[in-house]
Amino acid sequence: MVSKILTEENKNKSEEVRKFSLPDSEHRIQEFDKTPTMYSYMSPEKEKEKVKVKVKLSDEKVNKIMEICELFGNEGGELINVLHQTQHAFGYLPAEVQEVIAHGLNLSTAHVYGVVTFYSYFTMIPKGRFPISICTGTACYVRGAEKVLEEFKRQLGIAVGETSADGKFSLSCLRCVGACGLAPVILVGDKVYGRVSPDGVKAILEAYKDK
Ligand code: FES
Repeated sequence: MVSKILTEENKNKSEEVRKFSLPDSEHRIQEFDKTPTMYSYMSPEKEKEKVKVKVKLSDEKVNKIMEICELFGNEGGELINVLHQTQHAFGYLPAEVQEVIAHGLNLSTAHVYGVVTFYSYFTMIPKGRFPISICTGTACYVRGAEKVLEEFKRQLGIAVGETSADGKFSLSCLRCVGACGLAPVILVGDKVYGRVSPDGVKAILEAYKDK
């Protein structure tokens, strides 16, 4: 992320530049260029220290993130809620999105990145249309969740945290989802599958073949 912070002048000054104001008055975006989106902001404490940030996001997406930040009062203490809402809106939290959140909440990008990578719920990788989550809580683990997970990995050809090349499936692990009586449990999106065995993995995947 730090590499995205540009200290040199915008090389594309001939491009259209228009005014843009942040809801947060403490950090004011002063210029806002078009693709790739590039804006600069100035901290009131460091009026003379102008920093340019390159963000490859559409105006619409930047505005959406700013709306979410504003919804939570542009408060740094609301970072978790802002990340939840933003991931819900975009599906994942890439570096560019984190940078805009950092500005919207007046936090460092390193802080936002630290929180995103600390909680397994947050992801920087786009999930598949049918995200598969394997419960690896104690009950599921002792009843063979590990073997089920290995079979999903083998059949999809991806590791945990990855998405299949066609964007259809992604694989992640969860802790207890509260259905221990059905262990081992997996979820495909919101659909729960219980007592899953490695032999049943193929049938589960085939159910989504034409979707
Ligand atoms: S441990 Fe898997 S549902 Fe409880």
